Amino acid sequence: MSTSSVKPPKGPDMRVNLCGVEFASPVLAASGTFGYGVEFEEIVSLDRIGGFITKGLSREPMAGNAAPRIIETAAGMMNAIGLQNMGVRAFVEEKLPKLRSIPGAVVITNIFGFTIEDCLQVIEILNDAPDIALYELNASCPNTSHGGMVFGTDPTLLGDLVYRCKMASKRPLIVKLSPNVTSIAHMATVAAGAGADAVSLVNTFLSLAIDIETRRPRIANITGGLSGPAIKPIAVRMVHDVANAVHIPIVGLGGITRAEDAVEFLLAGATAVQVGTASYADPRAVENIATGLRRWCLDQGVDKVTSLTRGLKT
Ligand SMILES: Cc1cc2nc3c(=O)[nH]c(=O)nc-3n(C[C@H](O)[C@H](O)[C@H](O)COP(=O)(O)O)c2cc1C
Repeated sequence: MSTSSVKPPKGPDMRVNLCGVEFASPVLAASGTFGYGVEFEEIVSLDRIGGFITKGLSREPMAGNAAPRIIETAAGMMNAIGLQNMGVRAFVEEKLPKLRSIPGAVVITNIFGFTIEDCLQVIEILNDAPDIALYELNASCPNTSHGGMVFGTDPTLLGDLVYRCKMASKRPLIVKLSPNVTSIAHMATVAAGAGADAVSLVNTFLSLAIDIETRRPRIANITGGLSGPAIKPIAVRMVHDVANAVHIPIVGLGGITRAEDAVEFLLAGATAVQVGTASYADPRAVENIATGLRRWCLDQGVDKVTSLTRGLKT
């Protein structure tokens, strides 16, 4: 499980170090699109990808929002799942032991709470569990009426949340930022100032789709979060903005479907990337993108993938 023993492979060196944890590849599976990891064991070689982020874990199990809560759009997906999850205790008891037996599975747990106290309790439970590499704090879910995006769009609340969670964490803390703000660079600066070890961006964009026959929203929650190829150029721009504002590592995501998309995020300033919606179209997308990125580096004569980070020429 420890990644410090990852051996340098032949060909390009794809290893990246994120907050002191070494990953065999910079390509990770994004939260909410890869279950709890175990569901993908038969489909994806977990040792070929960098690692994965679990579905957001809350203090108590959550049923999520009413259906319909996921729809297709012209260039991606809208969802308002509402953080349905089994709860942190069930994850630790039922899923984590199984994950520990899968070679190469590097686990990052995504944390969600309606209040700061909720998040602290989730962290306390995870602190006592073995073999988790990092925590990702979801300060950006657009699909709940409190917590989530509320934290990620108010700088004072975000600073408070991050500071208290960081103080409680026994593991490095990545803070996942909302794109639904005027200046994501400012929010990243607040998170870094409050002790975040890294930031990940972006979560989904608040959006609305209307069925013109019924004149009703296509999602029961009325609004949902837009993800997939449509958001990629905005997400890359945001990673670039954040790279100019903070010195902590950045994990970039939003609409990555091929290795070349991952390269864009790295050049914009990301140390690692995550693949989300693409796993719905192809459950092996994360592995294919990790393999494709390695091949791209080989073809382009890139010896170390880390040399791409912040490589944008302006
Ligand atoms: C169905 C679905 C569920 C998601 N659930 C979570 C979640 O529980 N926690 C979280 O931080 N992000 C969640 N996300 C956001 C994704 O991790 C990611 O930030 C976003 O979809 C953008 O990346 P993509 O375009 O590659 O999907 C979810 C996204 C989707 C599509």
